[in-house]
Amino acid sequence: MKKYKKGYTQGVFDMFHIGHLNLINNAKKQCEQLVVGVNADDLVHSYKNKFPVVAEEERRTIAENIKSVDEAVIAHTLDKVVQLKNIGYDAIFIGDDWKGDARWEQTIKDLAEYGVDVVFLPRTKGISSTSMRVVKDEVVKDDNVE
Ligand code: CTP
Repeated sequence: MKKYKKGYTQGVFDMFHIGHLNLINNAKKQCEQLVVGVNADDLVHSYKNKFPVVAEEERRTIAENIKSVDEAVIAHTLDKVVQLKNIGYDAIFIGDDWKGDARWEQTIKDLAEYGVDVVFLPRTKGISSTSMRVVKDEVVKDDNVE
């Protein structure tokens, strides 16, 4: 019997990489069922001012086909209380790069009122969707020259 019944994690999951996989697998160790919220393209644009490389429905399909994922939905809000009402989870998992972030500190308090835990999991070092967006072409070009 795992600690939580239904876990939730939400993010962009653009160009699905090993950091995403580690986060999801570690979350699933603590919950019977894992739901992944994939941020909608417009939602990402509203706070990053850029669109993900991979479109939302493709990101959702990839997430849903990861072994540890029971269901993946497109998320249209960053408000985790709204998502709690939409999805109904008893724990939310997030990488520890967000630890100490003001919005997450508030989310911890908001979700505590519903008895929901916020669980920080270790972030995988050395990889992010942002780092994958840039310089790769240059690296390949350089390799070919030698
Ligand atoms: N994550 C992680 N390790 C990484 C990258 C991401 O554990 N190296 C976690 C994040 O903490 C979050 C989830 O994966 O809980 C989804 O994050 P997302 O924003 O999609 O990942 P990034 O690759 O960091 O994207 P970006 O560079 O756009 O911030």
